This record gives sequence, C-alpha cells and structure tokens, in this order.
Amino acid sequence: MSGATDHFLVRGGARLSGAVRVSGAKNSVLKLMAASLLAEGTTVLGNVPRILDVAVMGEVLRRLGCEVVREGSSVRITVPERPGHEADYDLVRRIRASIAVLGPLVARCGEAKVALPGGDAIGSRGLDMHVAGLVKLGATVDSEHGYLIARAPRLSGAAVWLDFPSVGATENLLMAATLAKGTTVIDNAAREPEIVDLCQMLVQMGALIDGVGSSTLTVEGVETLSPVQHETVPDRIVAGTWAVAAVMTRGAVTVLGSRPEHLDMPLEKLTQAGATVTVVDDGFHVEMDRRPSAVDVVTLPYPGFATDFQPLFLGLNTIAEGTSMITENVFESRWMFVDELVRLGAEVRTDGHHAVVRGREQLSGAPVTAHDIRAGAGLVLAGLVADGVTEVGDVHHIDRGYAGFVDTLVALGADVQRISVAEPDWLD
Ligand code: UD1
Repeated sequence: MSGATDHFLVRGGARLSGAVRVSGAKNSVLKLMAASLLAEGTTVLGNVPRILDVAVMGEVLRRLGCEVVREGSSVRITVPERPGHEADYDLVRRIRASIAVLGPLVARCGEAKVALPGGDAIGSRGLDMHVAGLVKLGATVDSEHGYLIARAPRLSGAAVWLDFPSVGATENLLMAATLAKGTTVIDNAAREPEIVDLCQMLVQMGALIDGVGSSTLTVEGVETLSPVQHETVPDRIVAGTWAVAAVMTRGAVTVLGSRPEHLDMPLEKLTQAGATVTVVDDGFHVEMDRRPSAVDVVTLPYPGFATDFQPLFLGLNTIAEGTSMITENVFESRWMFVDELVRLGAEVRTDGHHAVVRGREQLSGAPVTAHDIRAGAGLVLAGLVADGVTEVGDVHHIDRGYAGFVDTLVALGADVQRISVAEPDWLD
C-alpha cells in the first residue's frame, strides 16, 4: 500500500463533485492512543483513520507491551499492569507525535525514556515546554544519547504557564497531571478541538479536569484511571482539504462526518474567496462557480487559522484573482513547499514570516516533491488546477495523514493515479 518512492500522477482540469466522508482526526487519535497507557485494561477507540501514523503509533504501544488490534474502524488497545517505558528512535523519528507517550509513561511507570523525535520537516519544533512542564510537576528530565529520560516516583501537581499554547506540550502535561498528586493548573493551554477530545476521553477515564476548551486547564490528580470506549473527533484538516479542493477546481463537494463548527475560520475564508458554504446534516457543502478571489491568511493557535491549512490556502491563492499575503506565526520554516509550487509556475515570494502570492489563471504541471503531509496534499491540489501532468513524489508523507487520498479524489472525478514502486507489508 505504501513505499517511500511511490508517487502520484495528477492530470489537471477536472471539476470535483460528489460527497466524501471524513474519519477521525490524526492529531487526536495519536494522543488518545498515548492516553490509553494511563489505565490498565482494554481501551477501544472508534472512528480511527487508516493512516500510516496510526500504524506506527500502534507499533510504539506494542513495544511498550500493549496488545493493539484493529477491528474495522476501531482500534482495541490492551495495556498491561506494568507497561514498558521505552520508545525507540526507529519509530519515534517516523512520527513526532509519539512524544505524547512521555507524559503518560512517567505518570504511570515513574520513568519514561523516549527518543527525541523527527517528524515533519516544518521548523525546529522544540520540546522545551514539554520538559519544563514535567520538571514543574516534579520530574527530573535528562537528555542522553538522543533520548529524553524523565523520572518521578510520583508527579506532584503544580502551576504551569506555557510560553506559547503548544498543542503537544498541553497534551503531555495534561496526561501527566491526571495521575499526579494534587492540583495542576496549565495556563496558556492550547484549545484545539483535538485537545478537547483528549480531555473528554480523560474525564471519561475518571480524570478530574476543569476548564475544558479554555486556555486554563485545572487538573485534580487521581490515584488510577479506567479504560474506556471513545469515538475520535472528526478530522477538521482533512475536511478542510476537500473544501479547498472543491473551491480550487470550481467544483461542488459535500463533506460528511465533519463538524463545521471546528472549521469556522477556513470556511469563512473560502466564502471570502467566493465560495458558497452551506451547513448540512452531518457536515457541510461547498460550491464554487468562478475563479477564486485572493484571501489573506494569518496562522495562529486555535481558534485562529490553523497552520496545517496554510499550504492549502497558499496553493489556492496561486490561482486566485489578485494578490494575497500569507503570514505564518506557528512554524518558522513552513515555506519549503513554496519552491515546489514555483516549479508549477506559481508566483510566490517569501520574507521571514510572510509570503506574498500573485495569483495567475493556471499552473503548469511538473515533477514536484512532498516534504510534509499538508504540503503534499497542497501539491496534489495544485496539480488538479495545473495544465498537463504533475508528478508528486515522496507521497508517503500524504499517507501519514490521509486515508485513501487517491481513491477519494478519483471518486470526486479527479484524474489521479498512484504509481507504486514498493509494496512493504508493515501497514496493517
Ligand atoms: C501539533 C499538530 C500539528 C500542528 C500543530 C500546531 C499533532 C500530531 N500535530 O503539532 O499538525 O501543525 O500542532 O497546530 O497534533 N514549540 C516549542 N517548544 C515546545 C513545544 C512547541 O518551541 O516545547 C514550538 C514549536 O517549535 C512550534 C510551535 O511551538 O513552532 C507549535 O508547536 P505545537 O503546538 O507544540 O505543535 P505540535 O504539537 O508539534
């Protein structure tokens, strides 16, 4: 199903139309899987996307002694009384989100040894707030031979202020705090829907959390948590990807299984670009009948405009009428794919946090390379509105976050083909 050298052949020109159904959010389910470590027994997660990152996180948990079984759209995770406490570099480097096991493991086992991650090539993505927060909770944290090693016989509640509302740091500290002794207050916490999802699962497990959905999370530590069944929140980034695809190709797409209230900002931007967006039962419908107008975008933590949408909107602006300014405030070097877009004839100039995009009627197909998940998706969408054939390489990045990406595009009428070079058997 996947291989590092697979590529997509995209023939531009089709107008996308039809209905798609999105599944659970990658950025949520990976943390829910990590959270299962907090309780002995069997946790069942529903609405789990069939993506590479879930398979890798499953392997991280297996190596910690858990049994991980996929059953349809669910994943069943059985956590032993004493899980292991080490996550190795060969897995962690493949998904940065595996750092999410750090907090649960130190809280549950008193020790965690997690390789320093790699992940997307989108900026330095430090871990200083994760570490400083765990130290506040009483852990000692050392970095040795490429591993972070955190130790604490029992964590103790504390007040933690985050310099920036980091998604990963909020999640790690939240999970650690659930089993700490006493009260933890996480201030300037991230508020993404995926964090709300994690809070809801933790509360179901028996955690005491106040302020869910706000930037101040108060956690009263408990002695133990219990395994639960939990449905993963729908993937707002995947839902938004199909919406942008509809607008770029002047199509009409209904996105089902999604929550439009998690997409207020991007859907408003698409409306400004000229699209008609209608909320329907179980999702929303996007329709576009003309060339989009350029829209400015400024990325910020939720409820601001998500950085994960930035490459998609940058792509949209390359074929829009007018000039736009994109400002990236969350990751410092998320411009790598601009060079790829320029290969397709886009007119983009970057300067520090800003990119200025001069829209043109059409792009021109060429071979390009995906450097991360969303940039990869952005290049495929650009290929849909390019003249001729666009060959997108390194599509394993797209496999990390999109289930059945090509099949979905083909069902919507696009001319996209996967050229498989290798068929390894490690995905399912
Ligand atoms: C998560 C998402 C990613 C999304 C991002 C921001 C997952 C698996 N990934 O990533 O798709 O783009 O949120 O919405 O959920 N930082 C530090 N020190 C820290 C932690 C973060 O400097 O200790 C910086 C990072 O370098 C980055 C910024 O803070 O510049 C945002 O990072 P963060 O919110 O933590 O993103 P992730 O959790 O890595």
